[in-house]
Amino acid sequence: MSIIPDNNDFKTEHNITRKNPVVKAESLDSDKNFENSIRPKSFEAYIGQSALKETLKITIEAAKKREQPLDHLLFYGPPGLGKTTLAGVIAEQMGVNIRITSAPALERPRDIIGILMSLKGGEILFIDEIHRLNKVAEEILYPAMEDFFLDMTTGKSQTVKTLRVPLPKFTLIGATTKAGELSGPLRDRFGIIHRLEFYTEDELAKVITRTAGILNIEITEEGARAIAKRSRGTPRIANRLVKRVSDFALVKHDGKITEKVANDSLDILKIDAFGLDTTDRSLLKLIIEKYDGGPVGVETIAAAIGEDVRTIEDVCEPYLLQAGLLQRTPRGRKVSPAAYRHLGITDRDINDQKSLWN
Ligand SMILES: Nc1ncnc2c1ncn2[C@@H]1O[C@H](COP(=O)(O)OP(=O)(O)OP(=O)(O)O)[C@@H](O)[C@H]1O
Ligand SMILES: [Mg+2]
Repeated sequence: MSIIPDNNDFKTEHNITRKNPVVKAESLDSDKNFENSIRPKSFEAYIGQSALKETLKITIEAAKKREQPLDHLLFYGPPGLGKTTLAGVIAEQMGVNIRITSAPALERPRDIIGILMSLKGGEILFIDEIHRLNKVAEEILYPAMEDFFLDMTTGKSQTVKTLRVPLPKFTLIGATTKAGELSGPLRDRFGIIHRLEFYTEDELAKVITRTAGILNIEITEEGARAIAKRSRGTPRIANRLVKRVSDFALVKHDGKITEKVANDSLDILKIDAFGLDTTDRSLLKLIIEKYDGGPVGVETIAAAIGEDVRTIEDVCEPYLLQAGLLQRTPRGRKVSPAAYRHLGITDRDINDQKSLWN
């Protein structure tokens, strides 16, 4: 029996995932309204990230005592861990307004100039995906962040003049999933830089119970824990799963999410005990069965499973790395023994497979 699925298998599995991206940590258009309705607005409601929360509380307290705006802050970490949410909590705590934008919306110089000039004293400017800011926008930001003024040029060639326009003191909060792609000079202008961590099962169970409460969904402690286990350490996924499982509970049961209802529904959604979906499993299986466990280059993996490199790097890999199923080496990706165990692939299967090739 071959343990290597042929290409069609990969395709089928891949298509299922595409239609049903329920465990992808990236935000989907369909999430937007739902997410805004359940976003925590205070530190009390914001679950987990306790070390970061404590530091921030002190920083906020100090800024308030000095009657100064907060230092510029940069949050980085995988999608769906609560960067945008935290920026909102900070604004709430400071009692100031927050202006939300993202780097791709600041393409032309006048976009960033316009937004900076419209800020009022103490306000927070939140720039999402800040690693995608272009060079011109970055250079406009430097003096704005450092000394709160804009360098504007007027006139043409020989008559060109630089005008310094003062800005009110504001706080920039940047968020990125790719801290490594941020330019050095921009990174250096943030006073506080923090990484958001994946959530523990306990924390996710709390997120789930809280969301169920807001949505009037009945859930047991075990039910919440069962969903938490398969949420890839990510609140966004946990929240999405609560909604999906609740649909199953309503249609197939009496509406209440118990451990069994949660597990049965997640099985139907093809989300396994580690929260992996079919694309993740295809990726691991491919490395094990076609490349002897790796190392293998990410481009090769992408071509074989019909995904693009960015999706693999940004969506699949962060959690596979964190869960210890995959390793990054200078020569490419390698699976860990835990991945073999998780997929139920034994040495014997591998040897059988090798004898088939020889
Ligand atoms: N600490 C938390 N406690 C409770 N809910 C949370 C927490 N963090 C995030 N969430 C929930 O998860 C969802 C996603 O969070 P958020 O949009 O802040 O993630 P993000 O890190 O900004 O993601 P992206 O990188 O895609 O922008 C939100 O709807 C929010 O309700
Ligand atoms: Mg965000």
